[in-house]
Amino acid sequence: MRVVEAFRDAYAGSPQTVWHAPGRVNLIGEHTDYNDGFVLPFAVPWGVTAAVTPRTDGVVRVLSLQSPGEPATFTSYDQSKGWTRYVVGVLAMMGEAVSGADIVVDGDVPQGAGLSSSAALEVAVASALNDALGLGMTPMELALLSQKAENDFVGMPCGIMDQAASALGQEGHALFLDCRSLASRNIPLDLGAHGLSMLIIDTQVHHELADGEYAKRRAECESAARKLGVAALRDVTDLAGALQQLQGDERKRVMHVVTENHRVEALIGLLRAGAVTEIGALLNASHLSLRDQYEVSAPELDVAVEAAVRGGARGARMTGGGFGGSAIALVPVERLDSVKESVSRAYDERGFSAPRFLPAVPAKGAHRVEVS
Ligand code: GLA
Repeated sequence: MRVVEAFRDAYAGSPQTVWHAPGRVNLIGEHTDYNDGFVLPFAVPWGVTAAVTPRTDGVVRVLSLQSPGEPATFTSYDQSKGWTRYVVGVLAMMGEAVSGADIVVDGDVPQGAGLSSSAALEVAVASALNDALGLGMTPMELALLSQKAENDFVGMPCGIMDQAASALGQEGHALFLDCRSLASRNIPLDLGAHGLSMLIIDTQVHHELADGEYAKRRAECESAARKLGVAALRDVTDLAGALQQLQGDERKRVMHVVTENHRVEALIGLLRAGAVTEIGALLNASHLSLRDQYEVSAPELDVAVEAAVRGGARGARMTGGGFGGSAIALVPVERLDSVKESVSRAYDERGFSAPRFLPAVPAKGAHRVEVS
């Protein structure tokens, strides 16, 4: 295994533990996590593998096979820069439980596709350290610690969805998560049995405003919740009444969050009833709401969604934070080629660079990798 070989080359010794953690796509429930709402993501077959041996002298050495060279070495956490902050942030959040580590990571999450490579990196490192140090943390505790690393160390005010999907995902299932109680359930998602497949359309664009706009949306939601006198937008029960009390952007944001929570519950109802083909309409409705009310889409995402549906998809939507990244489309297997052609043609006509297509199959969440 190449991550283990690289570890031995870099640090002269075998890693104590090796863990793999995946990226995710979100089926539905977008921008609801930090509003204490519902999400339904699933883990994808790509992720990060972390090989780790704890140290006792406070030194952190980190090497990525995606940026070869010498390991970056830190004697204090605040020396870390760039992608190493996601790794060092995890150690920082573990506090006195850890005092340095030798780490090698190897990732294959398509870069820039919005499939949460950063959550995969955090959860892989957190899981490997938890195992090596015998900390006994649960997958949800590891997800929370990883989110805290991203919030407090990296400075990105994300919710819990990406880390939870990475830590708790199960093969063949989506993860239904109540982001307030943190109760979760794995919901079977056997699209193949219904002649369907989920196609990821990676726009390969990332608009620069993404992080700033994310923080702004979150602040707007918190401000609206305060005005409505609720702890979080999850608690809005009378949407019409709430909308009367708000104006402008906050009104639109509330409209999205409240209806999106309903869409998550409706989609789960359809899955339970075996009406998988029918979920497409909810995906379309989610996209329109994200585009028009939450205003986090991008032309590349809108064109992908419209062209996918025109080409025969049952439904499609942007997935993840927005402003680029990927869309997902629910496609009858026999229409896959026609959907891809339709999207590629639409991109060509608009002068966008070609999108990338990937199959989204619900994969296993974080797990230990046995090393021989
Ligand atoms: C990003 C964040 C998540 C979530 C989504 C939007 O992926 O990391 O916590 O808020 O955006 O649903």
